[in-house]
Amino acid sequence: DEDKPLSGYTALVTAGPTHEPVDPVRYLANRSSGTQGYAIATALAQAGATVTLVSGPTTLPDPPGVTTIRVETARDMLDACQQALPCDIAICAAAVADWHVAPSAQKIKKTADSTPPVLHLVPNPDILATLSQPSPNRPRLVIGFAAETEHVLAHATAKRLRKGCDWMVANDVSPATGIMGGRENEIILIDNAGSAHWPRLDKLQVAHRLVARIAAFLHPAQAK
Ligand code: C5P
Repeated sequence: DEDKPLSGYTALVTAGPTHEPVDPVRYLANRSSGTQGYAIATALAQAGATVTLVSGPTTLPDPPGVTTIRVETARDMLDACQQALPCDIAICAAAVADWHVAPSAQKIKKTADSTPPVLHLVPNPDILATLSQPSPNRPRLVIGFAAETEHVLAHATAKRLRKGCDWMVANDVSPATGIMGGRENEIILIDNAGSAHWPRLDKLQVAHRLVARIAAFLHPAQAK
């Protein structure tokens, strides 16, 4: 049906930052708001898909009609994603922390000689790369995001190949663009055939347009 082009399809979306605990009261994090990922989850659900949103800590309400699973760390995010498989479509919009630390069981105290503590960073799993790996459970369409501040197309094209995903949504997050944490986004959509530069749009409009593109990919015969 035209209104619900994704009915019968299942989708997994990651969104938001992750929080990586340092001790019982501190964590490492980043400034992702979750806005674009939540907009995509909402648009997928409006198009009829059954959507699981795996979200790091955000201030946004659960999107209507979406199963939202709240997690804190990258490792918890990966576990929740793997529990949401199999699915047809996976969209990794989360700003996953690249590292975690082995957290201290007690609050880290200042020492008498004020030697600062040293945090040993341990790499986090790459959720997008993991979901993209060939496997019987691999979603038919895996989409990643590449936030860049220069050479956006070149860096994002390389990232698509490195991660093994099907499409990459690239954007310029230089502070002057106002995109990170803002309402609008301007993206380049990269697939195996090339790239398309979209106009600057509200993040909800970017989501609807991406969902239309997904529907056209999944059933090209019905594409108008
Ligand atoms: O390598 P980079 O973080 O720039 O890649 C961004 C893309 O990879 C995004 O789609 C992001 O959600 C995903 N990613 C991930 N797990 C990580 C790091 C990034 O899923 N640990």
